[in-house]
Amino acid sequence: LGRMLAEGFVQAGAFVYITSRDKSACETAVVEMSRSGECAGIYASLDATGIRDIGARVTRDGHLDVLVNNAGMTLTAPLEDYPDDGFEKVWGVNLGAPFALIRTLLPSLRAAASPADPSRIINIGSIGALRLSVLDNFAYSTSKAGIHILTRQLALALGPDAITVNAIAPGPFPTALMNRLLGEPGGFDRVRDGIPLRRLGEPDDIAGTAIFLASRAGAFITGVILPVDGGASARG
Ligand SMILES: NC(=O)c1ccc[n+]([C@@H]2O[C@H](COP(=O)([O-])OP(=O)(O)OC[C@H]3O[C@@H](n4cnc5c(N)ncnc54)[C@H](OP(=O)(O)O)[C@@H]3O)[C@@H](O)[C@H]2O)c1
Repeated sequence: LGRMLAEGFVQAGAFVYITSRDKSACETAVVEMSRSGECAGIYASLDATGIRDIGARVTRDGHLDVLVNNAGMTLTAPLEDYPDDGFEKVWGVNLGAPFALIRTLLPSLRAAASPADPSRIINIGSIGALRLSVLDNFAYSTSKAGIHILTRQLALALGPDAITVNAIAPGPFPTALMNRLLGEPGGFDRVRDGIPLRRLGEPDDIAGTAIFLASRAGAFITGVILPVDGGASARG
């Protein structure tokens, strides 16, 4: 989804930083996306050092209008076999890293913020925390519930600074994260048929929603968890 989001913002005319812990993938993506606009890569992992590096690079520019926290991982295993460090790993990437990045980049976000045009934080949550699936993804669903609550709490904390904080809760999109489920026999049809609009998400669905939140139309919206899921969460 990160590529879909970054590409959407580049095409909409934003200067976009993408971050990745895979140097060559990062460089290739920058070359490809630079054909339709402006972007630069930051090669960094989401550990303490990487987050400091991202902060240092962005701070050099003086200000940041929009931060999208997209990186995420899942871990699925039967309850009895669930790895002891599963929560530490998954919560670290899905919840701890966004919190640390937000704190690190706050000065840059504050520098761009004004009441008429707030800075925007967009966290990528998940429909997996809005309606529970049959998957044994205990650390994932709880980490996503955590990012939804953190989104609302930060919206209260940062509203007076003219920074909006919202989460997009995607339904199924055909990415690496979904490969296992979609690759099972009959998996694709099962997933699609569980969606009222009878299709999976596409790049414009996620990018368009993020651009809306970052646009003038989204300036008065904060603390919202917005499902982009073809109606799947309407089932409860
Ligand atoms: N696809 C869906 O249907 C769906 C539904 C709901 C929510 N989401 C959320 O959407 C976001 C993007 O997921 P995706 O579907 O695009 O899955 P994906 O293709 O697996 O992408 C996940 C991205 O997160 C990065 N990442 C994972 N662990 C990292 C770490 N420790 N440090 C730095 N980067 C790390 C991965 O980098 P590497 O390539 O280097 O591993 C990858 O670029 C996630 O937050 C996910 O929970 C996805």
